[in-house]
Amino acid sequence: MSSPQQIADSFQQALNLSSSPNGTNAVSTSPTQSYLSQYMQLNQKPTKALKPFSTGDIKILLLENVNQTAINIFHNQGYQVEFYKSSLPEDELIEKIKDVHAIGIRSKTKLTQKVLQHARNLVTIGCFCIGTNQVDLEFAAKSGIAVFNSPFSNSRSVAELVIAEIITLARQLGDRSIEMHTGTWNKVSSKCWEIRGKTLGIIGYGHIGSQLSVLAEAMGMNVIYYDIMMIMSLGNSKQVDTLDDLLSRADFVSCHVPATTETKNLLSGPQFAAMKDGSYVINASRGTVVDIPALVQAMKAGKIAGAALDVYPNEPAKNGEDLFVNSLNDWASDLCSLRNVILSPHIGGSTEEAQSAIGVEVGSALTKYINEGNSTGAVNFPEVSLRALDLDQQNTVRVLYIHQNVPGVLKTVNNILSNHNIEKQFTDSQGEIAYLMADISDVDITDIKSLYEQLEQTPYKIATRLLY
Ligand SMILES: NC(=O)c1ccc[n+]([C@@H]2O[C@H](COP(=O)([O-])OP(=O)(O)OC[C@H]3O[C@@H](n4cnc5c(N)ncnc54)[C@H](O)[C@@H]3O)[C@@H](O)[C@H]2O)c1
Repeated sequence: MSSPQQIADSFQQALNLSSSPNGTNAVSTSPTQSYLSQYMQLNQKPTKALKPFSTGDIKILLLENVNQTAINIFHNQGYQVEFYKSSLPEDELIEKIKDVHAIGIRSKTKLTQKVLQHARNLVTIGCFCIGTNQVDLEFAAKSGIAVFNSPFSNSRSVAELVIAEIITLARQLGDRSIEMHTGTWNKVSSKCWEIRGKTLGIIGYGHIGSQLSVLAEAMGMNVIYYDIMMIMSLGNSKQVDTLDDLLSRADFVSCHVPATTETKNLLSGPQFAAMKDGSYVINASRGTVVDIPALVQAMKAGKIAGAALDVYPNEPAKNGEDLFVNSLNDWASDLCSLRNVILSPHIGGSTEEAQSAIGVEVGSALTKYINEGNSTGAVNFPEVSLRALDLDQQNTVRVLYIHQNVPGVLKTVNNILSNHNIEKQFTDSQGEIAYLMADISDVDITDIKSLYEQLEQTPYKIATRLLY
């Protein structure tokens, strides 16, 4: 189905970003270009394009204005794409999902068991966002539907926002701007600083923390980080052994950890007390990580000189006025009354570049799963992949077999497959689900049909797909 050149063309087209599905308003975005270039290792040995046995044309339903980059990828695969700018009411969704092989959504579409049980042909779901809790992942897995998302496409966007916030806090820029908007001219230099030579303490040195470290060093900052894992530093940054060590040395503390029970209120009263006088706190990770009432106390006491928050324990479900108020979080008005506090509505990863990168990442994950059976990156499913077939492997079929993870299944399956030459085979399980991929050589169309029929009749089978 997809030759390397077709994939090359689809990524090349994906680079011609546009803001509408009709392809107008092209924009050029260098970070995205460099992001996409990692996919463009095209001078490789040509590989065989596979096509599905007994599936017909691949139909994809895309909802919630999924990015144009993904649409381009699917069009270039020859898939039939049905695109909607918004989510669909449940009854319409149920109607539409009946026939499609893949569905692409963002956060508003709820793919519950009730909806998914109507999906007769669905093999994969793409969440063109980070979160996947809008999908019943367990039911999807039990139905043989692999779910993909894009957890890291917006790392750079978050890191850049944090750099902006470090400077904004150091220069009290938010306050000066608010003053000017209300007619006040307040030219001050007291307690306004350069960031050069200051120490940034990063808590959580993962995708975002490590990007931030590189950017901060380029701006002349010293970087230290604390992480529960031993992680090799980038540049001259240094890992410290304890959180307290980091807090006692950093002028700016920025959180980049996941929301876990261990990270709940990771920064609270004792941690603010351990920080340097006049230091700054930034949280663009998850709202549970910083104890906001304790932060308010530390700021009122003059211990902390400024804070930038992008995430909150409770966040409004939609945009609108009068939503960030005490009825949502009972400290909201206290927090808003403080000076040198930058508040943003969870926009760390919200950039055009991140959206187009998400389109490419999820679009290509779905394509690889549909065309090759490769489930690497699936969130609810065993991650299995086989190297591509060579062009000269014409009489080879790729078996994709999803089954319940119970004893004896492989024996039955291999009994069926072993009448032929099994070129390669890989199987893995996750919870109750197991996934087997195998390339079987020297088969003709009669053999393929017979393999399909035998596999379909095996007990504990969830789904069978054959690509040839
Ligand atoms: N504001 C936004 O719009 C936005 C966008 C993207 C991601 N995020 C959030 O940013 C956070 C970081 O994302 P990421 O992509 O860098 O994640 P990541 O998984 O790549 O990195 C997280 C790091 O935190 C470390 N860690 C985990 N528990 C820890 C603890 N108790 N103490 C110290 N370190 C710990 C991990 O070892 C890992 O290195 C996540 O919470 C993510 O949800 C926010």
